[in-house]
Amino acid sequence: MIKADYLVIGSGVAGLTFAVKMAEKFPNRKVTIVTKGDEDESNTKYAQGGVAVVQDFEEDSFQKHIQDTLIAGDGICDRGVVEMVIKEGPQRLKELIVWGANFDLNSEGGFDLGKEGGHSEYRVVHHKDITGYEVERALLQRVHQLENVTLLAHHFAIDLITEHHLENKDTEKLSCYGAYVLDQKKGIILTIGAESTLLASGGIGLIYGHTTNPVIATGDGIAMAYRAKAKIKDMEFIQFHPTALYEAEGGSYFLISEAVRGFGAYLRNKEGYRFMPDYDDRAELASRDIVSQSIDNELKKTGDTHVFLDCTHLDLTAFKKHFPNIYEECLEYHIDIEKDWIPVVPASHYLCGGIVVDTDGKTSINNLFACGECSRTGLHGANRLASNSLLEALVYAHNIFKYLSKISHTSQQLDIPDWDDEGTIIPKEHVLIQHNLKQLQALMRDYVGIVRSNDRLNKAIAHLDLIYNEVEEFYKEAKITTTLCELRNMVNVAHLIIGQSLERKENRGGYFNLDNLK
Ligand code: FAD
Ligand code: SIN
Repeated sequence: MIKADYLVIGSGVAGLTFAVKMAEKFPNRKVTIVTKGDEDESNTKYAQGGVAVVQDFEEDSFQKHIQDTLIAGDGICDRGVVEMVIKEGPQRLKELIVWGANFDLNSEGGFDLGKEGGHSEYRVVHHKDITGYEVERALLQRVHQLENVTLLAHHFAIDLITEHHLENKDTEKLSCYGAYVLDQKKGIILTIGAESTLLASGGIGLIYGHTTNPVIATGDGIAMAYRAKAKIKDMEFIQFHPTALYEAEGGSYFLISEAVRGFGAYLRNKEGYRFMPDYDDRAELASRDIVSQSIDNELKKTGDTHVFLDCTHLDLTAFKKHFPNIYEECLEYHIDIEKDWIPVVPASHYLCGGIVVDTDGKTSINNLFACGECSRTGLHGANRLASNSLLEALVYAHNIFKYLSKISHTSQQLDIPDWDDEGTIIPKEHVLIQHNLKQLQALMRDYVGIVRSNDRLNKAIAHLDLIYNEVEEFYKEAKITTTLCELRNMVNVAHLIIGQSLERKENRGGYFNLDNLK
């Protein structure tokens, strides 16, 4: 058994920020990070728009940012959490800069602030259109300077260790003692014991085939927490980003940042009609749920596969300076934004719900914490305000750090059994996993998309049961592999999304069910 004081599952902004803070403050304690891909692979790495933090206190205020967040969340944000996160923002951003992250400045030396949907002011601090790449780079650099942090890349967390794995333990009061982790290169399963475990395992985008997320976003942390019996909430609130690049073959869903609309781009249908003013006074800068639902409605009306983002009227030099990556990526697809409209379509982007945590990041299981996209803090309510996600991760990583710094440190001696895979075999038919994954993604796209109905959701449950049974049977017999575990996790998460969708009897934010109109 490997022993750590703090086990961190995930190396995006949430996991790395927490690890840096704990390791800096407690040089004698051991922080172990496990991450399933390359060390930088994460949703964080692809964040474009930036971090929403009030900076310009003449035009902007905490109050305005709070109000924008509450409006975007459509009435079900936790107001106390919203206030706390937004007021903490400037301090957390400063720390990130001390660790080496660079953000764009204006000609007066202040931050060059961007704007996105739902924001009433310019307040998005960014590094060109690759903010997440810069944040991830800086955090990894800091982590590698800290001797008490061990970062194990290509290590996949399979399950959390709780009383369910220990002999003679009362499963009424659950605690977490670490995790079983697959060393993906060696194919062996490690037992990592830890005093505190942090789930920082990110989102679920891959459950939908059409997503802006990279392939790591398979909801593993949420599924692990669910199997361990942690409280999970608000899973029906899937955020679809309105403007993912549309490709006829359905391959890439490269994101065209909302900041491009903040910069003045228009949404048009095939006929060239600018439709967003018909739906909302804020037009293209309405919150994301409204823009995605409006596009969905336009597509259903016209039978088209996509709409367009028109940047042709914008100052090209300024555009290229702010969005060099988007400009280049469009060129790769033979789209010259000076002349051509960009074909776009909504794609699954972010999960507003997740593992329920309090303001210290504590889950309903002792010694288990969650932070970042896998957690449900109450900040986002029914729809996340753009660029509030990186902010939330930074603030909650700090809160968990503060909480753990105050409680007394105890090294527990526990007899944790090793992973038992006796009787399992190396499966011959791995193609079945791909097959089931495709079925699951089609099911989520067709029945659990932007617009849902009870009939579609009930059909989805029935189809999902079949997939679930096949996957569970396979899981019991087969030697553990990453793809098999990811599929199993995605099935668990899909079950939560559909089940919690059926429980919501009113339309709010990102949740829209035709039967709730009746
Ligand atoms: P992630 O950054 O996704 O990190 C999760 C980590 O967990 C990864 O390292 C992953 O490999 C690891 N992991 C997962 N499962 C396991 C497992 N079983 N075992 C081991 N490791 C595991 N938000 C903003 O605020 N501003 C933006 O501008 C913005 N732009 C975005 C653009 C794109 C294209 C996308 C996809 C998202 C964007 N978001 C943005 C959302 C934001 O990037 C994410 O919500 C945030 O980065 C999540 O951080 P995280 O640390 O919680 O998770
Ligand atoms: C974007 O740049 O449009 C993404 C911002 C976000 O998801 O917060």
